[in-house]
Amino acid sequence: MKINGTHHRTIWPDPANKEEICILDQRLLPHRIVIEKLRDPEDAITAISDMYVRGAGLIGATAGFGMYLAALKAPESGFSSFMNQYSDALGNSRPTARNLKWAIERVNREIDKVQTVGEKREKAFATGCEIADEDALFCRKIGEHGVALIAEISRRKNGEPVNILTHCNAGWLAFVDYGSATAPIYAARDAGIDIHVWVDETRPWNQGARLTAWELQQEGIPNTLICDNTGGHLMQHGLVDMVLVGSDRTTHTGDVANKIGTYLKAVAARDNGIPFYAALPSSTFDWNIDNGFDIPIEQRSENEVTQVMGLDATGAMSNVTLCAPGTKAANYGFDITPSRLVSGLITERGVVDANRDAIHKLYPEGAGT
Ligand code: MRU
Repeated sequence: MKINGTHHRTIWPDPANKEEICILDQRLLPHRIVIEKLRDPEDAITAISDMYVRGAGLIGATAGFGMYLAALKAPESGFSSFMNQYSDALGNSRPTARNLKWAIERVNREIDKVQTVGEKREKAFATGCEIADEDALFCRKIGEHGVALIAEISRRKNGEPVNILTHCNAGWLAFVDYGSATAPIYAARDAGIDIHVWVDETRPWNQGARLTAWELQQEGIPNTLICDNTGGHLMQHGLVDMVLVGSDRTTHTGDVANKIGTYLKAVAARDNGIPFYAALPSSTFDWNIDNGFDIPIEQRSENEVTQVMGLDATGAMSNVTLCAPGTKAANYGFDITPSRLVSGLITERGVVDANRDAIHKLYPEGAGT
């Protein structure tokens, strides 16, 4: 995707030194574009837990490269126990996105196939690159499948703009490229369909305000930022045609974990007869959890709720405190939208009903995906 007209991925090996992995520091976006380098597995853990990188696909890709950085540091004798230690540490860096452990398991499976430490390091690098490339490819395919849903609404509206409401950032910043929820939007734009996106600000971290609105702006997609409480009102007044969100983990039974507040949008969408879709690559499916309420929900620092970060009048990034000293806050990162409220899941293999039978039919290999 483009920043000021130039194509960027969100993570890439430094072409001058493949032992360093480049990322954009998303904490500073959209005000500062700062590229950081990950040089060891601890850097990857910090980048994930402190949200330099975030979003399910990008967390997975960072974990994949983090495993490669661990393989580079691992001693020849004791290679396996070093890798086990970092599999656990990376795997615990954030709890909700399934892609994190999926990527770690994939690298471990691949490095087990070769013998020498040198081969294992090469394999870890190749697998990190494959995970990143596949993430970009799958998001592009999500766009190819999802655009039909938008085109159908556009036809029904005789070409009037299709109003899509999205929550959080399931854009290219949450993946390696394209994004999941944004890919059908970009494909619709490319197909000449008139679209407009309502962007939920997404307190407390403001992924919508800081990332999605900026990302859509870079891509020339008409969009309007709204407070998180506004969506229901817009739906009641016929101003939303479709809700389209991403997912951090989706059970093989169709329950969708996504950024806190998603469930409320799904309830309002159902009440107003508006379709609610979640877009996700297969790396986000959890094949072992039947009930979405068993998905671990991250709780983060109170400070993210009591403060808000932005640019001050001098152009510096700073935190502003919103409430009285000592105010107690709760910061749940995600919620569960039960499958009954989900109109469909947009995956790299097609659009599928959010239920066990349909999902397993599309992915007969299930847990092996
Ligand atoms: O806390 P984050 O920013 O890592 O949360 C991830 C998200 O942006 C959303 O929940 C998103 O809609 C799904 S991730 C593709």
